Amino acid sequence: RKGGFQHYMLKEIFEQPDAFANTLSVVKRCNEFIDQIRNAHSVTVVACGTSANASMVFSYLMERVCHIPTRVVLGSEFKYFPTPGTDLVIGVSQSGETADTIAALKLAKNLGAQTLAVTNVLGSSITRVASSVLYTRAGPEISVAATKSFISQVAAFMQITNLLSDHQIEFELAEIRRYLPDVLSLDLSKAVELCTAADTLLYIGRGMFYPVAMEGALKMKEISYIHAEGYAAGELKHGPFALLSPETPVIGMCFPDAVYPVMMSNLKEIKARSAPLIALGRKDDKDLDEVADVCISLPAVSEYGAVVLSSVILQQLAYHTAVALGRDVDMPRNLAKSVTVE
Ligand code: F6R
Repeated sequence: RKGGFQHYMLKEIFEQPDAFANTLSVVKRCNEFIDQIRNAHSVTVVACGTSANASMVFSYLMERVCHIPTRVVLGSEFKYFPTPGTDLVIGVSQSGETADTIAALKLAKNLGAQTLAVTNVLGSSITRVASSVLYTRAGPEISVAATKSFISQVAAFMQITNLLSDHQIEFELAEIRRYLPDVLSLDLSKAVELCTAADTLLYIGRGMFYPVAMEGALKMKEISYIHAEGYAAGELKHGPFALLSPETPVIGMCFPDAVYPVMMSNLKEIKARSAPLIALGRKDDKDLDEVADVCISLPAVSEYGAVVLSSVILQQLAYHTAVALGRDVDMPRNLAKSVTVE
């Protein structure tokens, strides 16, 4: 059943090119769902864990490309926020069974909001709460750590944005499909070596790479049990800098986009404090090569492409680190695939 792979997680990582493509085409047929977002004045997304990280990518896309105010609230925290008013509230859950997300969506409905759901599982509980459902159709995910379901959620959000916007991103979506298979078998051994020796890992990014950093750190901590935190790169000097040491590698995402210069200066500040630096960047970037201890090179793709490809690389970094440490990759301790209690 693992299709020749050592773990379900690795099998599911390799299924991501198909999952991404599937979701893109499914979303194209969801007119009613898309129209409800188009007509919203503002959107609140409720989700937990990996689904919340994918939802954060959505919020950046919605604000930047569609100009619709979009906030993400953790399922477990939604009840402590004031009423969402006439917001459209979207519950995002791979399993469709996460108690906190379902409770948040029910509460939003009781407060008079319109509710939608994004899920991977047909007929799951969340589909009975929302007035309209978008199925990501990533296929069954067995490993506790979410991988292809995350990429499918991101695909769904990118396609929604594409369909809603005047500035379509068809080219970027095609480019992601083309390059995704190329990043499934990169040699990450040098980066894995730094991670296995670490006490703490810091993942940093700006803009959409901030949720990518949070997701990378979540994946690492849940399957390798190494303490890892995802930060907006600008936040480092507001506290986490105190953690930097030769035992605290930093994983930074730095691509030639609008934030490149400021990201580069953050990376140099990190190096000056003798923390090992693993950088994800574009393959021809000589400056990045010079500043980083280990450079993981991506093909020359757009920012959207780099968001997806980096996420897939960070899943593999977590996977290979966990395998090197002898962890139970598919069934990490203390965790369950769906969390059905609040
Ligand atoms: C992390 C992970 C969890 C889930 C979270 C929400 O790899 O799998 O953080 O993302 O429990 O689950 P769903 O998406 O099923 O609501």
